[in-house]
Amino acid sequence: MPMGSLSRVAAAGGRSFGTAVRPEQLTGDARLAQLVLDNCAAITPEIHFKWNAIEYAPGQRNFAPADALAAFAGSHGLALRGHALIWEQSTPDWALRRLAKGEGWELVEAHFAAMLGRYGAAAQEWDVVNEPIDTEQGVHGLRTTSFYRAGGPHYIERALHLARRLAPQARLAINDYSVDYDNPVDAARRTALLRLVERLKKADVPLDAVGLQAHLDLAKGPFRPQILRTFLADLAGLGVTITITELDVKEADRRAPLALRDARVAAEAQSYVATALEQPAVRGVTTWGLSDRDSWLQDAPGQAGARPERLNRGLPFDAALAPKPMYWAMRDAFAAG
Ligand code: XIL
Repeated sequence: MPMGSLSRVAAAGGRSFGTAVRPEQLTGDARLAQLVLDNCAAITPEIHFKWNAIEYAPGQRNFAPADALAAFAGSHGLALRGHALIWEQSTPDWALRRLAKGEGWELVEAHFAAMLGRYGAAAQEWDVVNEPIDTEQGVHGLRTTSFYRAGGPHYIERALHLARRLAPQARLAINDYSVDYDNPVDAARRTALLRLVERLKKADVPLDAVGLQAHLDLAKGPFRPQILRTFLADLAGLGVTITITELDVKEADRRAPLALRDARVAAEAQSYVATALEQPAVRGVTTWGLSDRDSWLQDAPGQAGARPERLNRGLPFDAALAPKPMYWAMRDAFAAG
């Protein structure tokens, strides 16, 4: 089978396909850059739109890497995802220290103004709040982050209103993880996310989209399509579009024969993507990288320094940038959807 562009196959069904990238992959790795151009209609900055990557010291902002990504998207006609304005884990320490004390919301306002002022038109959809749900230690299903403390229990509303004011054309999203599987934690998280979206829509808060990260995990399986199907229908019923924002597959057994490993990963991705594409509100899919070589999962505890054959194989291309069964599986799912 000839290698066809994932984004072209997706576009034939009215969907978009994209990947997360880092700027050095585009400038220092011509083959990877070509792979992005061949296969993607959208990119998400993996790191360089995050607050701690931009404003390393108060008021001192380095936009150069983010500018490079925006320019790459602009010059090649790719959609750009604004990821992410608010995320506890990517907030600079100097800001966290104030926010955690329940003060300094004006730092959030200044950050939003800087990012949306510069990229509000370049990026069509923004993850305004990343990972707001915590059903285990949160309050009413919301993670009690520093932003929650500084902005109050309605900090998500405040953030969305602020983003709308600063970037009236942009589509605004919240983005979250661990809503994919048939277990009590994921089930509670699905319910909490639905409640949050329902509350926001009822109060006319400017929320256009929900991002589902889809960091799939073979240890949490089996994936049950009906659960995702129902969840997506419930979300769509609340009046938001849906984007699959960070798809990858974490393996459970990296000692199995390679062909079996790749088949397991491919089956999981195909099942998930095919189910997602049944839902008309799902606009597109982005994988969290293209090549296993660049996957954030290689940085997970116990993985660093793993022998090449033990690297996680949860993205469409292997470490040598050759397409794997996951690539063909996604292509088939897009073609069918
Ligand atoms: C990850 C990046 O891949 C890493 O390189 C970085 O060190 C930390 O963030 N959920 C998200 C993404 O929303 O932003 C995260 O990306 C992965 C989990």
